Amino acid sequence: MTSSNILFLGAGRMGGAILRGWAKTVKLGAGVCVLDPTPGVAVGFAENLGVLGIQDIAELPADYRADALVLAVKPQMIEQALPPLVAFLNKTGVIISIAAGFSIERIQSLSRSGQPVVRTMPNLAAEVGLSATVAVASEQATDIHRNITKSIMGAVGSLRWVDDEELLHAVTAISGSSPAYVFALAEALAAAAEPLGLSKELGHDLAIDTVLGAAALMKENRDPADLRKQVCSPGGTTLAALEVLQGTPGLNELITNTANACVKRSRELAEIKGK
Ligand SMILES: NC(=O)c1ccc[n+]([C@@H]2O[C@H](COP(=O)([O-])OP(=O)(O)OC[C@H]3O[C@@H](n4cnc5c(N)ncnc54)[C@H](OP(=O)(O)O)[C@@H]3O)[C@@H](O)[C@H]2O)c1
Repeated sequence: MTSSNILFLGAGRMGGAILRGWAKTVKLGAGVCVLDPTPGVAVGFAENLGVLGIQDIAELPADYRADALVLAVKPQMIEQALPPLVAFLNKTGVIISIAAGFSIERIQSLSRSGQPVVRTMPNLAAEVGLSATVAVASEQATDIHRNITKSIMGAVGSLRWVDDEELLHAVTAISGSSPAYVFALAEALAAAAEPLGLSKELGHDLAIDTVLGAAALMKENRDPADLRKQVCSPGGTTLAALEVLQGTPGLNELITNTANACVKRSRELAEIKGK
């Protein structure tokens, strides 16, 4: 399978990870265009993936028409960068955005009214092909647009759909921002090791390997609650530890508050960007 005409706006951390992941599943041709002003970035993708790499919109062939435009720039760049590209997007083409907090309505107001849009929320693990991505489609989006989205975003991890755009705030709290919660847990575990007599390096390595091992167990479709119960023998060490972790205030309450703070901030940022 080869790709159709897909225009990538921005090939930084996320856009670059998606392009590299996608290139592992599909042979990318010159119909894929990467537009990024950072010196060397677009040309690097052109050399490595065989796509058309450009630093400026003026380099786009006049007759280029994209079937999809992937918005992978910072939200504050969209206002300026999107409108000049609309002429290069087919009227039935889809805009796939990964920009946090930038609404479908806002994207449509900067393109054509009624242009199909898919908003997605990936996470940092896209860099290693393990993003937990959620998408929501505008009412104009067809199965063709959903399939293009699946082909691109599904290449860097799992992809799930919701119907209500408002839910993306919750998704941001549960999967978008949450790799940082797990990093914080690993940091805390490592920090607890030193006062217990372990070297800093050993504590750090054990924390990381433990998070990886626990994740691998859950990846086998094993329920985290079942796994937790399995390691908690009555009167044992793990149970003693979990009694503290799940005491009052416990981990559940802390994570609920964490997610609520994330949702609140996500709504505030969306309002600022909407103005
Ligand atoms: N990072 C995450 O974990 C994450 C998770 C979910 C969603 N997102 C979303 O992903 C989007 C990209 O984030 P990122 O972390 O990949 O940012 P990034 O690394 O800064 O990448 C953005 C890229 O776009 C380029 N760019 C800037 N202006 C442009 C323009 N007018 N036309 C074309 N390219 C332009 C930037 O170049 P310069 O650096 O030269 O400006 C940069 O290479 C954001 O909207 C963010 O909300 C990120």
